[in-house]
Amino acid sequence: MPLITFKKAFLLSALALKSSATPTPSTHVSVSVNPKIRFQEVDGFGVSQAFQRAEDVFGKYGLSKVNQTHVLNLLYDKDIGAGFTILRNGIGSSNTSDSNFMNSIEPTDPGSPTAKPDYEWDHYNSAQFPLAEQAYSRDLQTLYANAWSAPGYMKTNDDENNGGYLCGVDNETCASGDWIQAYADYLVQYARFYKESGVEVTHLGFLNEPQFAASYAGMLSNGTQAADVIRVLAKTIKKSGLDLKITCCDGIGWDDQEAMMAGLEAGPDPAINYLDTVTGHGYDSAPTYPLSTKKKTWLTEWADLSGGYTPYTFYENGGVGEGMTWANHIQVAMRDAGTSAFLYWIGAENSTTNSALINLLVDEVVPSKRFWAFAQFSKFVRPGAYRVEASSSNANVTVSSFENENGKIATQLLNQLGVDVEVSVQIASLKSGVVIHPYLTNNEYDLEALNTFKSGKGGSFQARVPARSMISFVSA
Ligand SMILES: *[C@@H]1O[C@H](CO)[C@@H](O)[C@H](O)[C@H]1NC(C)=O
Ligand SMILES: *[C@@H]1O[C@H](CO)[C@@H](O)[C@H](O)[C@H]1NC(C)=O
Ligand SMILES: *[C@@H]1O[C@H](CO)[C@@H](O)[C@H](O)[C@H]1NC(C)=O
Ligand SMILES: *[C@@H]1O[C@H](CO)[C@@H](O)[C@H](O)[C@H]1NC(C)=O
Ligand SMILES: *[C@@H]1O[C@H](CO)[C@@H](O)[C@H](O)[C@H]1NC(C)=O
Ligand SMILES: *[C@@H]1O[C@H](CO)[C@@H](O)[C@H](O)[C@H]1NC(C)=O
Repeated sequence: MPLITFKKAFLLSALALKSSATPTPSTHVSVSVNPKIRFQEVDGFGVSQAFQRAEDVFGKYGLSKVNQTHVLNLLYDKDIGAGFTILRNGIGSSNTSDSNFMNSIEPTDPGSPTAKPDYEWDHYNSAQFPLAEQAYSRDLQTLYANAWSAPGYMKTNDDENNGGYLCGVDNETCASGDWIQAYADYLVQYARFYKESGVEVTHLGFLNEPQFAASYAGMLSNGTQAADVIRVLAKTIKKSGLDLKITCCDGIGWDDQEAMMAGLEAGPDPAINYLDTVTGHGYDSAPTYPLSTKKKTWLTEWADLSGGYTPYTFYENGGVGEGMTWANHIQVAMRDAGTSAFLYWIGAENSTTNSALINLLVDEVVPSKRFWAFAQFSKFVRPGAYRVEASSSNANVTVSSFENENGKIATQLLNQLGVDVEVSVQIASLKSGVVIHPYLTNNEYDLEALNTFKSGKGGSFQARVPARSMISFVSA
């Protein structure tokens, strides 16, 4: 059967066509959306290409020119691909860019924290600089520069790897002196090099998973110690004249980030006042509740790092790398944790693992179902949108909804049941006769544009959502 016919038979509003492929009776679900009740503002969705993964996109492992462009379009073009608006760059701390190392802009120890630093700028930054240029030439809006560690000579363990603290933070002293100001200068210099070369860094972070002494670049910190750095970094940014927002602290899990909040809030000059965004990861604990802060929050890294390779699976058994699993993670983070952004770990890399959204197999490009799950959100929920109130009568047919700055409402329905559902949607304040564009992702389809239809009286419409499928309904 030609795909197109099947597709047209799938959705469908007033026509209420039954898919003959569905033996089980369908369930009826009511969904209501109220755009008058608004929650957090959205900054966007994104990925990183740190630790040399940017090189993969530029052909290190054989990706042809035409497919390099294709991958950039999939990641950053909102008409062709997912239209990611946030890129997380790694600020390197290594003295080399061999292997997976990210080279530092200050690879050699100046000898003391007050000595003149010997900064180096290669206009390349482990391919992250040209990547950022390419991303900005498409739909990127936010460049989040994030250091995993300070260079080793600024740390208690004299090593960029294996944990260690920044010399000078609470309870951590070094014979070489206090390096907090030198580190702040160094971070700002990274952004200055980018700006002087025509690329705007918008957000600056100085920690990654500070609870964990990794064998690779990383640095330990609790909230108090992070606060010591934030106060100095804020003054340094102010003096620099650069427009840079500070983030903290990329805790390894949501609970770990929550545990840092007290230290950020403490003291007569709370560091939280200098932060723009609180950032956390999803590994040890998922973002299922709001962090204790009034600041915006971003889920800045999470991925399936251990599951079997499942690029083509939207749903099989709820596995950790399946597309629907990630559609659900995004929806829960935005809805229950109130995050303003959601970033997967890697965008595209030459590998057959689930740690990226797009797998590159030499010159084959495989966007995973996770990628399409992200695109179901990122393509239609643009920066500046607000999440709005949405509820479903069925706990396994989940909903989220956002109103964009241009007034377009994007509503995501995730049918996690094993049966098709007939859904009655009502969007309060949506006029009748408004064209609705539905897009479907499931095991068979990747962000497939289904037939459009018009909203009925009181902003209502009917739709069939197939079992284990996601449909985004976008109002014109
Ligand atoms: C570069 O860094 C590594 C690991 O941090 C260190 O072992 C090595 O001695 C450094 N090399 C130079 C030339 O500084
Ligand atoms: C302070 O640092 C010392 C040595 O680095 C360590 O043994 C001690 O446990 C630290 N104190 C606290 C309260 O963490
Ligand atoms: C962070 O650790 C230092 C000692 O290493 C300690 O003095 C401080 O109380 C800790 N802060 C929090 C919020 O636990
Ligand atoms: C690139 O990916 C291909 C296909 O998975 C693999 O055979 C190859 O070893 C990878 N190249 C490197 C250098 O990892
Ligand atoms: C580009 O990627 C596609 C999809 O994986 C593949 O079929 C094609 O061979 C690749 N190379 C070129 C030059 O198109
Ligand atoms: C519905 O979701 C709940 C948890 O939210 C789960 O326990 C239950 O198994 C799900 N039921 C079906 C039929 O998927």
